Amino acid sequence: MWEGEGPVPRSVLEDAIEGVDALLCMLTDPIDEALLDRAPNLRVVSQMAVGVDNIDLEACRRRGIAVGHTPDVLTETVADTAFALLSSIVRRLPEGAKEVRAGEWGPWEIFHMAGGDLHGTVLGIVGMGRIGQAVARRASGFDMEVVYHSPSPKDVAARHLPLEELLELSDHVVICAPLTDSTRGLIGSEELKAMKPTAYLVNVARGPLIDTDALVEALANEEIAGAGLDVTDPEPLPGDHPLLRFENCLVVPHIGSASVRTRNAMAHMAVENLLAFLGGDPMPARHPGGG
Ligand code: GLV
Ligand code: GLV
Repeated sequence: MWEGEGPVPRSVLEDAIEGVDALLCMLTDPIDEALLDRAPNLRVVSQMAVGVDNIDLEACRRRGIAVGHTPDVLTETVADTAFALLSSIVRRLPEGAKEVRAGEWGPWEIFHMAGGDLHGTVLGIVGMGRIGQAVARRASGFDMEVVYHSPSPKDVAARHLPLEELLELSDHVVICAPLTDSTRGLIGSEELKAMKPTAYLVNVARGPLIDTDALVEALANEEIAGAGLDVTDPEPLPGDHPLLRFENCLVVPHIGSASVRTRNAMAHMAVENLLAFLGGDPMPARHPGGG
């Protein structure tokens, strides 16, 4: 068990993994071929996260290594975070709060800090899995119309659209898709140009779904109204990164599932996945991409 601060250093993990049967890891640990080569006894990898893009699933499959993750228990918390980001940026809360803290709260003015609305707008959800559907439920409570894009239509009360149509139509866009080879760079400069200049973009999935340089350019050229990012590429985002120059870009440090209750539930599920596998029982959440 790594008890130090921050992610376990690679060299420590490389030494420790030799001879182990089971690994409980975090999304900050790259579980790649080179690491697996050092662990001939490894039979199960249990990740304390729902996304598994840090794990080479194909390599695990070839070696018959089972992979566990933590879906469901975090769905509602991540959807809460998506909505918190969206409502914060649309109603310009970070900008307003910054002004007040700086002692710059001036006289009330009609259009001062006037932003967009949530109610009566169209929300485009990219990735309509568990989290996307939880975001859609919240959107209907806010009187928003939901459209979505995903590889195949889902049994949900919302319109399934090709990505480009969704981007053109939506007043705001929330990204909830997993990071895979086919979603990496999904939102690039063309896609950002397709969005309305009044639209806000939220990402609670993985940073590399959005081309960071293209987003910086879109913000600089006012091609979109702003962004709310729980995840970035790179991550962590350095304090002097160009994205942080924009007042209409709210960045938080990958805390989508970070309620105390949900993080505890994820930890329990990651342990239960391991113990179930080692005990010969079905894992509560075995990832279909693993061995
Ligand atoms: C967090 O990002 C997760 O994938 O659970
Ligand atoms: C605003 O505060 C209002 O009363 O309309």
